[in-house]
Amino acid sequence: MRELREKVAVITGAASGIGRAVAERCAGAGMKVVLADVEESALVAAERAFKDAGADVLGVRTDVSRADDVEALAGRAVERFGAVHLVHNNAGVAAGGLMWELPLADWKWVLGVNLWGVIHGVRTFVPLMLAQGDEGHVVNTASLAGLTSTPFLGPYSVSKHGVVTLSETLLKELAMQGAKVKVSVLCPGLVRTRIGESGRNRPAQLEHERDDDASAVDAMSSGAFQQLVEAGMDPAAVADQVLEAVRQERFWVLTHPELDQAIRSRADDILERRNPVAQSLMG
Ligand SMILES: NC(=O)c1ccc[n+]([C@@H]2O[C@H](COP(=O)([O-])OP(=O)(O)OC[C@H]3O[C@@H](n4cnc5c(N)ncnc54)[C@H](O)[C@@H]3O)[C@@H](O)[C@H]2O)c1
Repeated sequence: MRELREKVAVITGAASGIGRAVAERCAGAGMKVVLADVEESALVAAERAFKDAGADVLGVRTDVSRADDVEALAGRAVERFGAVHLVHNNAGVAAGGLMWELPLADWKWVLGVNLWGVIHGVRTFVPLMLAQGDEGHVVNTASLAGLTSTPFLGPYSVSKHGVVTLSETLLKELAMQGAKVKVSVLCPGLVRTRIGESGRNRPAQLEHERDDDASAVDAMSSGAFQQLVEAGMDPAAVADQVLEAVRQERFWVLTHPELDQAIRSRADDILERRNPVAQSLMG
């Protein structure tokens, strides 16, 4: 989709980090933007900031793990702006720890937001965009963790591998239909956002189940992960690459070329039938 001006973008997880940066770039390109996020106060503040900057914006409180919320989001977007051209399924959370020790509640939460959120986004918005018959683009946020397997990030990596294959499959299915809807998958390394404080949005019900689990430790809240994230890429630089990929209809958005080696060695291990070895983060 080369021309973005006057088109409509819907971005989930738009109140913070990568989603917010992409929304800012979209508004800067003259798009109408729908900001979706589960964190009400951050969403209201973001919507206000966009309005103050002169953007044509709508904030919709949305829990992407709920199909009915995502359907309502699409309804609100169409009601306000008449169409949807760009959907960025970006909302995501992380919980860290050994897979067999992490509470079931954390597995449900991470897969619910990161994987089911994207599934709901695709099931809701792709038919709508196809029916419009116009150019469209779906961006799904995965991670480098969707192309590698990182210790202590089990549920996160499972969800992100799911998002990568879902996106590849979506591209192929749309191409087979000759559709004007294109797809990109965003696979960043570390980006300076609030992902390390994901626990702020853990649903009360799951928090309750978690409290009942004496072994519940979230390595994300240890501070060590947050320190790594602090040294990460500026979300605005990630957003620039996302918009460029949309304009150029490029599928893979691999923002950290210095981490390509981690992808290459995994592919080599598979083809050489070598057992995986634990390496550094994202290795
Ligand atoms: N920061 C990184 O290093 C990094 C690296 C690779 C991939 N990612 C991915 O980027 C995406 C954006 O995360 P970020 O790093 O900007 O973190 P962030 O915490 O700054 O932003 C995530 C946003 O998602 C929202 N959110 C959480 N649960 C939600 C739900 N159920 N429904 C709707 N919104 C919800 C949060 O309120 C927040 O505004 C995520 O999918 C994340 O997995 C991040």
